[in-house]
Amino acid sequence: MINRYTDLIHQTFDFPQESFEMVDGYLRFNDINLIELVRKYGTPLKLTYVPKIGQQVEKARKFFKKAIKHSDYRGKYYYCYCTKSCHFSHVLDEVLAHGAHLETSSSFDIDLVWKLYSRGKIDEKTIIINNGFKTEEYTRKISDLINKGFKNIIPVLDNKSEIFYYDQFVDTDEYNVGIRVATEEEPNFEFYTSRLGIRNADVLPFYRSVLSQNKRARLKMLHFFVDTGIKDSIYYWGELKKGITLYCELKKICPTLTALNIGGGMPIPNTLGFEYDYQYMISEIVQLIKDSCKEYGIEEPDIYTEFGKYTVGESGAVILSVVNAKKQNDSEIWYMVDNSLMNTIPDSWGIGERFILLPINKWNNGFRRVNIGGLSCDNSDYYNAEVHENQVYLPVNEDDSDEPLYIGFFHTGAYQDALSGYGGIKHCLIPSPKHIIVDVDDNGKLTDRVLFPEQTAESMLSILGY
Ligand SMILES: Cc1ncc(COP(=O)(O)O)c(C=O)c1O
Repeated sequence: MINRYTDLIHQTFDFPQESFEMVDGYLRFNDINLIELVRKYGTPLKLTYVPKIGQQVEKARKFFKKAIKHSDYRGKYYYCYCTKSCHFSHVLDEVLAHGAHLETSSSFDIDLVWKLYSRGKIDEKTIIINNGFKTEEYTRKISDLINKGFKNIIPVLDNKSEIFYYDQFVDTDEYNVGIRVATEEEPNFEFYTSRLGIRNADVLPFYRSVLSQNKRARLKMLHFFVDTGIKDSIYYWGELKKGITLYCELKKICPTLTALNIGGGMPIPNTLGFEYDYQYMISEIVQLIKDSCKEYGIEEPDIYTEFGKYTVGESGAVILSVVNAKKQNDSEIWYMVDNSLMNTIPDSWGIGERFILLPINKWNNGFRRVNIGGLSCDNSDYYNAEVHENQVYLPVNEDDSDEPLYIGFFHTGAYQDALSGYGGIKHCLIPSPKHIIVDVDDNGKLTDRVLFPEQTAESMLSILGY
């Protein structure tokens, strides 16, 4: 009896699950017939399943709505999309179509805001939160939006001197600002305090001595972001509590303060064994804010989030062919794939990020432990561990079929394009894969189209001056 890959998956996880199922021996992802796509377009390919993005926005709203109702919470909830997690227009169009607001991170992000405006995707009422360390150019562009009548721009001060730029460049009678408070990093991190934001102990003195004296700037928002994400851990709850307490103390002396921004960091499945109770976490956050406000006798703030990965991560996948199985010693087999992992899923190399990894075909074959080798000649171009165990198992690829083994990394929709650079020159000149957009038409039927074909040698060589 062989131990089949399908048995391994069914014995290890609850399978099928929300986005993954097997139909006629092939994997489906959100009902997308992946083998059909692979046969139509070939590998390597990246795909974006657009409807998932809107579904995520709606899902989060529902969780907050329920939590707010349950706690009899008086503030409102605002969903902002953190554009840096994926700037593609099909992503922005989808989040905006679902009523999300925006968060920007850099000067060029404001150029993107203007593009969206000229296309009628946003208007002067859209809430746009501006984060990041601001260069003078970035503050000029933010000020320009305010001067041109955008009413809900909220530059979040990353340091105490940033306000002087707006003093100089904004010419309206009043404008909103926020303060980002620096959080303490997780105990095992290299630094104690995040470089982003104003240190906690300086926030109240800064408000008293500078902002409260400013005739035009109105402090509207306190912002903090626990970089390691919204987790049910002592560290997260401790940082959240500190942030809320600071909000309450600030509110006591700052009547214009009405908004608490808890940033991004909502996790998404990175293994089939992922377990996370979104409703529980959101309800606890809302209740914690409510209880603290009651204790301080203040009004409950509107709650803002800036979910990036949560919004767009689950929409993406990278599909590769296994082109060779190299046996390098008695126990190590390398499945060589047809693109670089460093280029296509750079977080797996840079920060050890894991993604859901599943074969598209050959689930009835036996399985074996493998290392996945990227096509570049870089020693670090490999993937050999999953979240639930420190190894990777995939089907044996030698069989009677003419079809190679296809594998997919799923939930890769956030950050990978921007970090890898889309187009441009690539590590070892291995081209960007083709990018396929999958959507649903008015009749609910899945459609697919090529956003970009596979990058050509010519496109790289011309950048290189040839
Ligand atoms: C200020 C801020 N908001 C939101 C986000 C989005 O985080 P995530 O993609 O984890 O939701 C980030 C990510 O670094 C951030 O720095």
